[in-house]
Amino acid sequence: MSEERPLNLAEFEQLAQRRLPAMAFDYYASGALDEITLRENRAAFDRLRLRPRMLVGVEHCDSSVELLGRRLEWPLLLAPTAFAALAQPDGEAAIARAAGGAGVTQVLSTLSTVAVEDVAAVAARPLWFQLYVFRDRGLTAELVARAEAAGCEALVLTVDAPLLGRRERDVRNAFALPEGLVAANLPTAESREITSDGSGSGLLAYFEALIDPSLTWDDLDRLVASTSLPVIVKGVLRGDDAALAVEHGAAGVIVSNHGGRQLDSAPASIDVLPEVVAAVDGRVAVLVDGGIRRGTDIVKALALGARAVLIGRPILWGLAADGEAGVREVLALLRAEFDLAMALCGCRTVADIGPDLLWVRSGSGS
Ligand code: GLV
Repeated sequence: MSEERPLNLAEFEQLAQRRLPAMAFDYYASGALDEITLRENRAAFDRLRLRPRMLVGVEHCDSSVELLGRRLEWPLLLAPTAFAALAQPDGEAAIARAAGGAGVTQVLSTLSTVAVEDVAAVAARPLWFQLYVFRDRGLTAELVARAEAAGCEALVLTVDAPLLGRRERDVRNAFALPEGLVAANLPTAESREITSDGSGSGLLAYFEALIDPSLTWDDLDRLVASTSLPVIVKGVLRGDDAALAVEHGAAGVIVSNHGGRQLDSAPASIDVLPEVVAAVDGRVAVLVDGGIRRGTDIVKALALGARAVLIGRPILWGLAADGEAGVREVLALLRAEFDLAMALCGCRTVADIGPDLLWVRSGSGS
């Protein structure tokens, strides 16, 4: 990197904005409509305050957690994000190499620009596969079979996008994939190509044509019955929906508003996390994404009951800034911030991160 080295994830975003064509940056960065939810995801973290414990001895800390029977070195996964090759030609494969080195699991998007088999071939850790359900259920079943065959360890069913949120920056830019880039997991020209006639977002048109808006809880039942993989439901923002997800066989729930890209005016995911945690009541793991940019944000999410968190855009900023090395740097910065935040909170293990760490303004503590 010729410019000054970014010191944090926000500075990686600034660098990425300078490096990326406007259409690509806007696609990654944008939220739906007025971007209220996009901003709220960050603002909600900034409103939370931590109440550290002192003199507990934090020379040797362990930031590992258990998730779906596996030990994670630290409680972070990479959220599914579409079209990584807009940032760098190696796209999701470069992310996979960096993720493996940093001990984190990558959730590969259905709409990746490198095919699941090719990403799995370079991934040091098994992938999870994010699933969009297509109107063509045969095609959807084929995606599941390929994810299984490629060694993916879980399916992540996105439930908050039966229709695509209206992202006005993409409409204005007539978002489309440039020549040579395709949705590489899909089999036909119609399903691989994201094109625009110049009058609006090509992805919006793609969703309208191909993604199934009729999805219901019965489809979750069918998916769970059709695969040997655990199915995690992503995009839940209410306790009752989280309870339904568990009843319909979900092995985990991701509290998410799709990075503010779907329903604008949805609450920040961190604000509804406690309601979801209470409804799930320990039956499955609850994860959260949306606005996590600092190690302290991870501590806050865990204090509110998340087992682990996911980040999406910062990985793309790292990739755009400096390819695989940029992703490694983003992960190293966040890991160092998290380890420091844990220690300064007086937590030697992740199990020590509890609701008492959150300061309540009334002064009564928690
Ligand atoms: C794709 O999943 C997107 O949100 O753009």
